[in-house]
Amino acid sequence: MRIGITYSYLRPEEKMLKDAAKEKGEVVMLHEDELRFPTRYDLDVVIVRNMGHYRALYTAKMFEAMGIPTVNSWRIILEAGDKILTSLILHGKVDIPEWRVAMNEKSAMHAIKELGYPVIMKPITGSWGRLLSKINDRDSAEAVVELRRWMSNPLHHIYYIQKYVDKPGRDIRSYVINGEYITAIYRYSEHWITNTARGGRAEICNDEEVREISLKVWETFGDGALAIDIFESSEGLLVNEVNPGMEFKNVVRVTGADIPGKIVDYAVEVARR
Ligand SMILES: Nc1ncnc2c1ncn2[C@@H]1O[C@H](COP(=O)(O)OP(=O)(O)O)[C@@H](O)[C@H]1O
Ligand SMILES: [Mg+2]
Repeated sequence: MRIGITYSYLRPEEKMLKDAAKEKGEVVMLHEDELRFPTRYDLDVVIVRNMGHYRALYTAKMFEAMGIPTVNSWRIILEAGDKILTSLILHGKVDIPEWRVAMNEKSAMHAIKELGYPVIMKPITGSWGRLLSKINDRDSAEAVVELRRWMSNPLHHIYYIQKYVDKPGRDIRSYVINGEYITAIYRYSEHWITNTARGGRAEICNDEEVREISLKVWETFGDGALAIDIFESSEGLLVNEVNPGMEFKNVVRVTGADIPGKIVDYAVEVARR
């Protein structure tokens, strides 16, 4: 079994994946500097670990086009890596925060009014809580919407807006890989943005309802290694977003779950499909 791992930086996650993959076969580490397509790669499967949604997405697409399956697949990266597509996929299947998509400033202002303050405006793709705005009133709504207009990336001109969920000082991050529920953590923070990459504190979460909703999310996508963000709200659990290119060093540290091993097992299975 020849397992490729593409990456942008050798984070602790990529090192853990490399060690886990060594147990299952020959590992080929592929830094972006060396990636060129179309080229013949003698690999059975590729674990895509590029940072940045689009680089991961097109890396997966290129390998798949050359007949080499990837983990995650291009379809899962496309759908789970995009907050609008994820909302569409999950809508009606599991409870999610109320959301709107708008295509210009005027409709964005209407959508915000419809949802009622406070709302969260966030980029369609992205991570680490970057560029998230909590909008508490009309003045700040106008400011954020106006600022977006002058941002050169056209994706910022598509407005994804969620109702703000009043969380109990924490949210939940769960992991489901190839249909198997692995583990979950609470992420505590004084700030409303709880990402551990931003200093949120991790603690193990053992909750049957979290397990059930996480598996339901995975079944709705139907494949993949997925990290799922969940909020506790007064109306029960709400699924915030799904991540196809997850970090896991803090979860492994806190829970001892073998996430890299599970991802590699999944890759080996995908190679044999
Ligand atoms: N609608 C919301 N209500 C309350 N908190 C939110 C909301 N959306 C995001 N957050 C907070 O911000 C964090 C990052 O948001 P998220 O949608 O997961 O974006 P990212 O892809 O950057 O992780 C979440 O983990 C949560 O703590
Ligand atoms: Mg998140």
